[in-house]
Amino acid sequence: MGFPRNRMRRLRTGPAMRSLVRQTKVGADDLIYPLFVREGKGLKEPIKSMAGCFHFSPDTIAAEATEVASLGIPAVLLFGLPDKKDEIGSQAWAEDGVIQRAIEQIKQAVPELLVITDVCLCEFTSHGHCGVVKGDKVDNDSTCGLLTKMALSHAQAGADIVAPSDMMDGRVKCIREALEENGFENVAIMSYAAKYASAFYGPFRDAAESAPSFGDRRTYQMDPPNVGEAMAEIALDIEEGADIVMVKPALAYLDIIYRARQRFDCPIAAYNVSGEYMMVKSSAAAGLADEQATMMEVLTAIKRAGADIIITYSAKEVAKLLS
Ligand code: PBG
Repeated sequence: MGFPRNRMRRLRTGPAMRSLVRQTKVGADDLIYPLFVREGKGLKEPIKSMAGCFHFSPDTIAAEATEVASLGIPAVLLFGLPDKKDEIGSQAWAEDGVIQRAIEQIKQAVPELLVITDVCLCEFTSHGHCGVVKGDKVDNDSTCGLLTKMALSHAQAGADIVAPSDMMDGRVKCIREALEENGFENVAIMSYAAKYASAFYGPFRDAAESAPSFGDRRTYQMDPPNVGEAMAEIALDIEEGADIVMVKPALAYLDIIYRARQRFDCPIAAYNVSGEYMMVKSSAAAGLADEQATMMEVLTAIKRAGADIIITYSAKEVAKLLS
């Protein structure tokens, strides 16, 4: 039949009509807001490499978390910067570590806000690798033991979800078993299941002071051209006990999110990483893009590809925009 009976433009005539037929909506309740905590007192220092983001100290983080919760964002994701780094990252599981104290502060102030913790050694090791270095290699199995200690100590401090981002084989299984054995059966695991060795992490490594001092992360993070391998990684993490699986980065990996959505039924998170975030910020600062519209289009694309949950540094701005 076609034209003139079919006029696709009828459903685009005004805001109400467009809203009625809109197939993808981003809401504040889909978002997770990352926060950086470092040792110190009274800190709220702008992070140079990441416009609009700050370093907080454990005593200022609760106020920020309270604001995040009041905007309708259900969860924060914590990254820690310790004072002391060593070969194995032992501050990562210290009872009075920077993350452990931050969790306690947040849980006291806003118990309903979900606290998710990044479980990875790169911010805590002197060499900046995500695991134990033996010779010139990152050792898989001994790293799993340390990550398990780290995850357990986050759970003890009150974390609701632990998020291993190291890409060691078998770590989800080790963490799941330890949580079960220690009475934390309701602490969930959001695994960075398909995490690529991406150039989009640059601004974050500066913010988290976690760049590797030698080599790169390509022996543990995934090779960007690969697709099937991502499905295998996700399947393994689910089998080992992950409750939520993540694809990271998000914007440059929409096909991976889409394929994961077709294949798996568990919640899928996507991490709109620092480099992707700063592309929008810097093009807006250069007068080349409408910041809000570009940001919303990016997040909508990630959701449309099939993500249920988006981790984004834009979460607060989006929540304000939508309210
Ligand atoms: C830690 C970790 C990284 C990111 C999150 N967790 C960096 C990396 O793997 O080097 C990147 C987040 C971002 O770029 O926003 N392993």
